[in-house]
Amino acid sequence: MTDPPRIAAVGSYNHDMSVTVPSLPVPGETASGEDFQEHAGGKGSNQAIAAARSGGDVAFVGAVGDDRFGEYARELWAEEGIDAAVSSVETATGVALIHVEESGENAIAVASGANDDLDAETVQSAGVIDGCDVLLTQLETPISAVTEAVSCGAATGAEVVVDPAPYRDLPDVFLQDVSILTPNESEVRLLAGHEPDADIDEETAARAVLDRGPDAVVVTLGADGALVVTDDDATAVDPIPVDVVDTTGAGDAFNAAFAVARGNGLSHLAATERGIAAGALACTERGVVPSLPERSAIDELLKRERSA
Ligand code: RIB
Repeated sequence: MTDPPRIAAVGSYNHDMSVTVPSLPVPGETASGEDFQEHAGGKGSNQAIAAARSGGDVAFVGAVGDDRFGEYARELWAEEGIDAAVSSVETATGVALIHVEESGENAIAVASGANDDLDAETVQSAGVIDGCDVLLTQLETPISAVTEAVSCGAATGAEVVVDPAPYRDLPDVFLQDVSILTPNESEVRLLAGHEPDADIDEETAARAVLDRGPDAVVVTLGADGALVVTDDDATAVDPIPVDVVDTTGAGDAFNAAFAVARGNGLSHLAATERGIAAGALACTERGVVPSLPERSAIDELLKRERSA
């Protein structure tokens, strides 16, 4: 492992436009919202930025349009010290429309745009996976690009961390290249072949997923913390309660801090604790990028929790 750990993040970029609403609109409803905000977003870019802030040396592979949203993203990655191996394509930059209700819960609709142009060749020619300690990716870009990233990461000896969001079916051959999968409660059930709300406990579902290839499955449970499942063990990791303002991007903060901690050689459990602290901090502010914590904030929150 290198210090700081080298993280290759492969995935999406979206320009997020978000409003707060008293409660998420139901079909046919026009909800009166307020506090319109525009920020950089997309699970891949969010995770790259969060990884850089939590102490990683980060390269990001993605695709944006040759437009003002793409330009905005490039400026941000430069400010965050991220090596952006990002292609500019003719298709418009991805956009996400986000509703955030008073409880902090959200609903998101994404127009993928340029993200759909990210392909295996672009990932390969970016040349940033060889030599990285951790390959971090999600499922918001075409599966051909994600598969290339994962198999390249596995072939070069990186730890391969996959956030299976948004959910899609994954073949065993893909999962065999994954070191650690980080599904939420519904994703772990779907990956285990059940309905998302099936009456089955998370450990059983995670064990069914483990049988398909990964070395560990870390089920993220939102306000209930996380469950770390390996062949020999299943351990619940406690949540850190915070005043929730906006949960958007909490999963991205979790995955990034987790990946950096693994790159620093921490155990699955210790890395999950850092992920939970980062995810908790990301819920305390509106918008994703403004809320992604620096390493010092994660350290501080964990110190406070341990001394409480
Ligand atoms: O995980 C949060 C992200 O999901 C948002 O930034 C939005 O762009 C969607 O990709």
